[in-house]
Amino acid sequence: MGRRAATVQSSIRADPSRNLPLLQPSSVDDGGPQTEPREAGALALAPVPVKTSATLEATLPDDYALAPEEDLLARAARARRSLGDDALVLAHHYQCDEVVAFADATGDSFKLARHAARSRSPFIVFCGVHFMAETADILTRPDQAVILPDLAAGCSMADMAHVRQVEDCWEALREAGGGATVPITYMNSSAAIKAFCGRHGGAVCTSSNARRLIEWALGRGERVLFLPDQHLGRNTAHAMGHPLESMVVWDPALSMGGLTPGALRAARFVLWKGHCSVHTRFTLEDVHRFRAAHPEGRVLVHPECTFDVVQAADCWGSTEYIRRVLDEAEPGSTWAIGTEIHLTNRLASEHPDKSVRSLSPVMCLCATMYRIDPPHLCWALESLVRGEVVHRVSVPTEVAAEAVVALERMLEIA
Ligand code: 13P
Ligand code: SF4
Repeated sequence: MGRRAATVQSSIRADPSRNLPLLQPSSVDDGGPQTEPREAGALALAPVPVKTSATLEATLPDDYALAPEEDLLARAARARRSLGDDALVLAHHYQCDEVVAFADATGDSFKLARHAARSRSPFIVFCGVHFMAETADILTRPDQAVILPDLAAGCSMADMAHVRQVEDCWEALREAGGGATVPITYMNSSAAIKAFCGRHGGAVCTSSNARRLIEWALGRGERVLFLPDQHLGRNTAHAMGHPLESMVVWDPALSMGGLTPGALRAARFVLWKGHCSVHTRFTLEDVHRFRAAHPEGRVLVHPECTFDVVQAADCWGSTEYIRRVLDEAEPGSTWAIGTEIHLTNRLASEHPDKSVRSLSPVMCLCATMYRIDPPHLCWALESLVRGEVVHRVSVPTEVAAEAVVALERMLEIA
């Protein structure tokens, strides 16, 4: 893995005056070079820290940016052991193997959100992307801190919907008339958009429960505003039996989303014009090429892929579903997988009795997931042992209070 001396946004000394978790002086368990001695399990929290959005500019220290990877992994392992139950390490399936090796739990975004919600650990080191860490922060107590080892690990799809654009769309829907709209946001969105959905009677969904959440929404209103991934929305609604003609796409770059009031009024689904730049690289030609070479093979894709690819696939679902299908597949079977390359490669090495490859000849890599690497993970873990919280993801209390409503609806329904 390459080294990145990334600029990051937050390195906050744990300090009760900042209302952040307070750690007692601590060390890795063999007294490694980065830390002061401490007894394992001696972490202590300040009383009732308040969620804030404070961030400070900080750069990955040279000690981490320049150290050999094997040293960093050994140091991170010592720090992890030293932290014991005071830390929970969660990793999304797209994380690289070196990071997954540290995970107490892996999963899709729904499974990881549930792990965070049930955790009692004072520190949750979230190896994933920013919206996942925000979700964990919203679902945990104020005296738990969620740490994203590199704050630059964002999601380009989540960035495709800004809450002010969503408010404009909402106003246009209201003016168009034609019955109540229920907003459903994919987990891959900012906390502000989750709060918008909580405020307007909507909910969050993930790729593993979008169908149930859309059913729920249609039981409450005439129309669903689905954001920010048009593909997950279209693929799911179509699989539920809704024709493509019942869907319109709202383009936030255009006035009135590029739609007339009549088109908005008639639509059952208003799909936000957002997409995943990784999953939209899989094409129908990829499916045809694979099928020509492997007529007996099966195509398994994520629902962030485009409609034509999902229609041509044998099966589709969340990253956890993709894992399960491969686990249950018969030995000797052949698979083309339409999802991020780290998961595909891991599935290939975990199933040597099956033939597993990427659906695409080009490398479909999520560059932001890949920002969580051994230097940043080691920094986050050793900092905790030293008594510092670097890269805490902290959702402002007033945003979290509305976002949790939308998230809890999902947890109840899914
Ligand atoms: P899953 O919830 O299926 O893991 O998807 C999250 C994601 O970002 C896929 O690109
Ligand atoms: Fe976002 Fe796509 Fe990366 Fe998933 S794979 S985190 S949707 S950019």
